[in-house]
Parts: sequence; structure tokens; C-alpha cells
Amino acid sequence: MSEKAGKVTMEKLVSLCQRRGFVFPSSDIYGGLSGCWDYGPAGIELKRNVKEAWWRSIVQERDDVVGIDSSILMNPKVWEASGHVAGFSDPLVECKNCHLRWRADQLTENKCPACGGELTEPRQFNLMFKTFIGPVEEAAATVYLRPETAQGIFVNFMNIVNTSRKRLPFGVAQIGKSFRNEITTGNFIFRSREFEQMEMEFFVKPGTDGQWLDYWVQERFNWYVKLGIKKDNLRRREHGQEELAHYARGCFDIEYLFPMGWSELEGIANRCDFDLKQHMTHSGKSLEYYDDETKEHYLPYIIEPSAGVDRSVLAILCDAYDEETVNDELRVVFHFHPDLAPVKVAVLPLSRKENLASLAKEVYGVLRPCFATQYDDTQAIGRRYRRQDELGTPYCVTIDFASLEDNMATIRERDSMNQIRVPIPALKDTLLAKLAGEDLFILPEGGKIWKQE
Ligand code: GAP
Repeated sequence: MSEKAGKVTMEKLVSLCQRRGFVFPSSDIYGGLSGCWDYGPAGIELKRNVKEAWWRSIVQERDDVVGIDSSILMNPKVWEASGHVAGFSDPLVECKNCHLRWRADQLTENKCPACGGELTEPRQFNLMFKTFIGPVEEAAATVYLRPETAQGIFVNFMNIVNTSRKRLPFGVAQIGKSFRNEITTGNFIFRSREFEQMEMEFFVKPGTDGQWLDYWVQERFNWYVKLGIKKDNLRRREHGQEELAHYARGCFDIEYLFPMGWSELEGIANRCDFDLKQHMTHSGKSLEYYDDETKEHYLPYIIEPSAGVDRSVLAILCDAYDEETVNDELRVVFHFHPDLAPVKVAVLPLSRKENLASLAKEVYGVLRPCFATQYDDTQAIGRRYRRQDELGTPYCVTIDFASLEDNMATIRERDSMNQIRVPIPALKDTLLAKLAGEDLFILPEGGKIWKQE
């Protein structure tokens, strides 16, 4: 029997993520680098699965969105036109006593949160990282690491109209790294200085922007629910007028109830024609769209769903985390949606004995081309189940001595811990069906229910 134990905290999550190879501090052996993280073997699989799920739903399954991969370094004029050089800044204050720096707009009191010291007057601090292009470190060679992927889409608008034959409304999607020299980072991978975004710019005819904004807010909310995030932990929040970015006419955040409270997971903004207008003015190139139906030239409006990969990963980790007491022992488990689980199937021979190992390796060889599969023959079987639970592996396949006689294997399900016994030749198709959502107790021919905990 299992029963609920404790709930997720950021401390538990950080420690489990490190122990099971999801996320490590960057440059760990040198003491880390503030606001930077490395994804380990389990984390990178989870992150790739999140990005693939996004790409599938935004690009692959739609006729009206195409993809792009633009460069991180861009002509610095892009950032003048976009408003980032002049305005992408946060108010910074410094403690006169301990010299720690803080974002003035995030402080509740006018004193240093670390030592109570007096703070300097706020000054605007630009969040873009600067570097130099070419061998000479001079002002004329200054370039920026992009603080959002969106601008790479806006400046390619005409290239895409001219080559993809897409007509309005249509979107352009991009996944990639962005960099912000955040004054304060924190809450694990929630706010970092190097992170990944999944952004889509949806170009629409002016006048239809309101309905498309509503559409994308709904679509994006449903995407998180489809990936298994509990609806109760998600909400939409409309920005007040005073909160809107300079380019936005309307904006909704999708928020998640993280351990530190409700926080932004994704923003969906109506950017009007701000970006195309700015780039048209600054580049001197026309970015007007010719509408064949109405025979008009105009600048499309843009609806932008902009999500953070790392924040999605963090929300998925928080939501999937669970502690249960099973037979008086603590079981920690990630109940990931099967599409997101870093490892789908683990093959576990009951012992390392030669005849058992060779059958288990054979099974492993059949399964691994179909799904992310792990082979584990260390420690007692119970310990191995717990390890797979902590990785969130939906199914374990156990090969035991009876398998040598009856050519059957046990499938153990992560969430219920129930087990069925299945003929080895039927394993692959059975697992495919289970991973696609079929009930564990629907059996292939010759299968039987083994253990119901
Ligand atoms: N193009 C619009 C844009 O970049 P944003 O609200 O600044 O809008 C969009 O960022 C998303 O990117 C956020 O909702 C968040 O998920 C992610 N993001 C932004 N800054 C981040 C940071 N410092 N660390 C991690 N993710 C971040």
C-alpha cells in the first residue's frame, strides 16, 4: 500500500536533480557560475522532449506555422530598432554596506535584504550582454548576445514571405538560447542568465489581432495541461495597462504555482505592428505585406506566445514530483507524462548470471531502437525500481529465472507499481501501446496479471 508523504520544495528538487543527473551548477568544480546551469544526462532528455513536444504542437501539427533558426549574434542595429539598447533595463540599487546589488522593483523595503544596509539611488542597468565581433575590442565592434529569439524572426519576415508562400495569418517559430545579465537570479532554473526560449510570432491582419490573442492564450494553456500539468497549478493572468511592455497592446501570462508561489511560465502578447514598423524605419527596407485578396499593402500585427524552456522544465519537475510511503519506506517518484520522461523503459535482469544477462541484453537490443531505454543490472531489484522512479521511468521490464523457462518478462508500471507478465516477443508492441496511454491491464495474447499492489 502506498500513501502520500511530503510535498515538493525547491531544496528537495535541487538536490534530487543533482543526484539523478537532471541539472548541475555550471562549472561545478570551480564553485559554479551565478545564474548558469548545466543539464545532465536525464535533464537533457527531459528538456529535448519538452522542446520536441512544443515543436510538434506549434509547427509539425499545423499548416500555418513554419520554423527558423536565426543566429544569436545579430547586427547591433537590430537592438537599436527593437528598443533594447535604450530601454531593456531594470532599476538597480546597491547596498552601501555589503555592496550586494538588487532589483529595486523587487524589494518590499528600502534597505538591503541581506544586511539591512542603506541602498544607493536606483539607476537603469541594461540587461544585454556585450561582446566584440572580430579581433579588435572597440566600441564600433560591439555586438550583443540576443536577449530574446523574437528579433531573429522579425528581421526575417520578408525572407519567409518570399520563400515559404505562406499567406496571413501565419506564424514563425524558433527555439534557442537567450542571454540576460539579470541583476538577481534565483529559484533554481527559473531565472538564469543563459536560458532557452520557445517563441512563435504569429502575423495577422490588423483588426483580427484580438481574436488571435484569445486563441493563442487558450492553445498555450491547453498545451501545458496536455503534457500532464495539473490544471489547478496553472492560471492565466491578464496584464494591467501599467504593466504592459512598450510594444504591447495586450498581454496574458500563463502562470504556474511554483514552490515560491505563482510565477510566470509564458507570456502571450499582442505586439501590434511595433516591431515591423521599427525595423522598416531603421533598415529602410519595406516590410509591408501585400494582401492578394484585398489588394492592400499593410504591416501585419503580431501575436507572440513566448515560453521559457527552462521554466517549463521546472514546472514539469515540480508538478511530477511526489513522495509516498510504500511499505514503511519513502518512495520519491516523478510522474512524468510518458512523452516527457527521460527514460521510457528500463530493462532489469534479476541477476547478473550469464544466461539471464544474455536474454536481458537481447530484450534491450530489441527495445532500444524504439524508445529511450536503460539497462541496469546493479543492486537489488527494489533499489533499482526506486532509482527508476526517481528518474520518472514509466515502465521497468524485469527478466527473471522463470523468463528462461516461459520466455515471458514482467512489466512494472511506475505510477501504480502494478505488474503484468508478457511474452517476450510481444514486449515491444505492448510497451508502445502502454506508452501511448493504454491501461496496464489490457494484456497481449498470452499475457497475465502478475501483481496488483
Ligand atoms: N519575446 C518576448 C520575451 O522575451 P519575456 O517575458 O521577457 O518576453 C519570455 O520572456 C519567457 O522567457 C518568459 O515567460 C520566461 O519563460 C522566459 N524567460 C525570460 N527571462 C528568463 C530568465 N532570466 N531565465 C529563464 N527564463 C526566462
